[in-house]
Amino acid sequence: MAGGVAFETPFGVVYSTNITSDRETGIGQWSAADLRRAMHEGLDRDGSSLIPAFPYTSFTKVSDADVADIYAYLRTIPAVRYSPPDNGLLLRMRWGVSLWKKLYFTPGRYVPDRAKSQEWNRGAYLVEGLGHCSACHTPRNWFMAERQEAAYQGGVFNDQIAAGKVGKWFAVNLTSARHGLGSWSVADIEKYLRTGASARAGTFGPMNEVIVGSLKLLTREDLQAMAVYVKSLPGPAYAGERVSSEQVAAGASAYKERCQKCHGESGRGGFFMGPPLAGSAVTQGEDPASLINIIVHGPSTPKGVSFGSWESMPAYADVLDDSEIAAVCNFVRGSWANEAGPVSPADVRAARK
Ligand code: HEC
Ligand code: HEC
Repeated sequence: MAGGVAFETPFGVVYSTNITSDRETGIGQWSAADLRRAMHEGLDRDGSSLIPAFPYTSFTKVSDADVADIYAYLRTIPAVRYSPPDNGLLLRMRWGVSLWKKLYFTPGRYVPDRAKSQEWNRGAYLVEGLGHCSACHTPRNWFMAERQEAAYQGGVFNDQIAAGKVGKWFAVNLTSARHGLGSWSVADIEKYLRTGASARAGTFGPMNEVIVGSLKLLTREDLQAMAVYVKSLPGPAYAGERVSSEQVAAGASAYKERCQKCHGESGRGGFFMGPPLAGSAVTQGEDPASLINIIVHGPSTPKGVSFGSWESMPAYADVLDDSEIAAVCNFVRGSWANEAGPVSPADVRAARK
């Protein structure tokens, strides 16, 4: 909790704050009301605007009671004296942040939808508030504000893709569109969020931290509620460009040779093989970044997550060249009724070290 985690934004790197109760370098002098203002209104203790890399656009929905509990918990964490690197340039842009807030930030607690069940509302409260799933899974506009009209339809951001390399990730479409989580049941979603693996997929990349650092610690009731809410998100049918049949054909032999053993001829994977690629949200990502990352670098599976009887997927950086990886991507994006646009060798090159 001592901060210093680097967030790669288009405006530069933003380092998270020390939130231990150290009085000089942490938030030891903050009152409960100060924390509430930060979470609900995006304001620092001195009244200046906080950079929205701190996801107060989501945290504003968290109830007063939960913020008070978080405050009480933070007080019990041992103080650590540590000053994260300075957010210099961005701090000088604070007037810009104030303007941004006027345009794109609406403070307000979560308002239950009386037409929906209590469970759905609990799930919505967690997903939209503390879970801040939209921070990654909702696309952003030119000013880095979440595009509400495309909520949860998939977002692009930068994070580590391999040791010493920062690159692009695509946080998949979480709606029930066919190129999103359409093929997942509520039980698949709950199990994935709780354990990092379900019959549909295993965790890798940025979801490792979301699951191992946070979701794994939630109660089953809360995870079930979140799954119920996620499953209810409506998504439009795919309307983008599609991989051509020639592009699909060009990747068939590489798929057969390198991938079929674990993902199957039918693309449906198998209990002793691997997850399905038919209907997979990563495979059909509007942006192919996460698909490319897992092929080039392999999945990095965190401690404590088990994929059961699946065989571990290797990295292909040293096995296939850029055009072979692009071809295999096009094969999986255009086969088995999957719907997605083509991948180019340049897309693959960008993901290499
Ligand atoms: C830090 C960014 C980030 C946050 C926050 C985040 N996700 Fe993700 N999520 C990703 C990325 C990137 C992927 C695709 C690659 C992967 O699986 O890691 C993903 C994939 C997923 C998948 C599909 C996995 C698959 O392999 O098809 C589900 C389901 C999911 N996220 C649910 C959630 C939920 C629910 C939340 C909120 C509690 C959440 N995510 C928060 C970045 C994020
Ligand atoms: C030895 C078995 C094995 C081989 C070979 C293999 N994979 Fe995988 N693959 C897996 C396993 C296991 C996972 C789940 C791991 C994870 O998601 O972290 C996986 C996950 C994936 C995912 C993520 C799916 C999702 O929705 O989350 C994609 C995409 C993928 N593999 C594509 C490929 C491609 C393309 C090839 C060939 C170049 C390939 N794999 C070769 C075992 C394999």
